[in-house]
Amino acid sequence: MLFVSATLQNEPMKATLRYLAGMAGPSGFGSNSTAEQVTEDSSCFLSSPLTALITGASSGIGAETARVLAKRGVRVVIAARDLKKAREVKRNIQKESPKAEVVLLEIDLSSFGSVQRFCSEFLALELPLNILINNAGIFCQNLEFSEDKIETTFATNYLGHFLLTEILLDKMIETAEKTGIQGRIINVSSVIHSWVKKDGFRFNDILSGKKYNGTRAYAQSKLANILHAKEIAKQLKARNARVTINAVHPGIVKTGIIRAHKGLLTGSSNNVLCCSELKNRSDKWKILCRL
Ligand SMILES: NC(=O)c1ccc[n+]([C@@H]2O[C@H](COP(=O)([O-])OP(=O)(O)OC[C@H]3O[C@@H](n4cnc5c(N)ncnc54)[C@H](OP(=O)(O)O)[C@@H]3O)[C@@H](O)[C@H]2O)c1
Repeated sequence: MLFVSATLQNEPMKATLRYLAGMAGPSGFGSNSTAEQVTEDSSCFLSSPLTALITGASSGIGAETARVLAKRGVRVVIAARDLKKAREVKRNIQKESPKAEVVLLEIDLSSFGSVQRFCSEFLALELPLNILINNAGIFCQNLEFSEDKIETTFATNYLGHFLLTEILLDKMIETAEKTGIQGRIINVSSVIHSWVKKDGFRFNDILSGKKYNGTRAYAQSKLANILHAKEIAKQLKARNARVTINAVHPGIVKTGIIRAHKGLLTGSSNNVLCCSELKNRSDKWKILCRL
């Protein structure tokens, strides 16, 4: 169990045991809480129609986050590289919530061109944007390169989301100003970010075929998600924008990304908790349900 052993090494034993036991943290929710449970009081979603854009919602945590947000009346834009899978997710959402508004758009986060095309298509729809969940992620065992010739894990998990956020930030700020509703950006990171040693990023090692280590590449990309959130939080504050950004560890979930490992717990609750909590948590690294 890759993720659990990481936690045991890096976190106090007490916190780890509370996590494994599913005990509630300050938010009132624990690692056993589901996304439905944390949004049971969905008055914050109902007060005004919201639009959420979720990357990588064609499976796993993203698909569950989309399902629950749609169930709570949020218009969901699914940004997916595989539209066939995304159509299936949409069908399932609408089977459960027939009135749900689900928009599907294609994106390959490992490609700058694709991210730009996606943003043009999305902006052309002239929809508001209240919530952006930078969720898509991959783990590459072997060294691979994107079409822009960048190591694929870093290109997908970090650079694609960086560009997406850059292009859509003004839309989010504008939506918050027009509606008076605080916008939320959520970067889905991982506890594994803490595996990156103090000497920082090692781009050369990532790019060298010999020294490539998939776990290190993944950890670096997840640390980059957190540093990105911290930097954007500063920028938002400087602009006096009514938009916050948070980075979350979603929990340990047996999804595509860790199919080989034995997952234990639910994780989409942290993503939706970040959208629904009234308290402004901007600029804080939180493992919301675990602490
Ligand atoms: N599962 C866990 O225990 C865990 C723990 C910590 C953090 N996380 C993080 O949680 C997030 C969601 O992962 P998950 O567990 O739900 O895994 P998952 O089921 O494998 O989902 C990953 C999603 O990302 C999409 N994706 C991958 N590469 C993409 C690309 N180039 N362009 C667009 N979409 C792409 C996948 O699309 P396809 O369907 O086309 O493959 C899929 O929808 C990730 O950021 C992951 O790092 C997960």
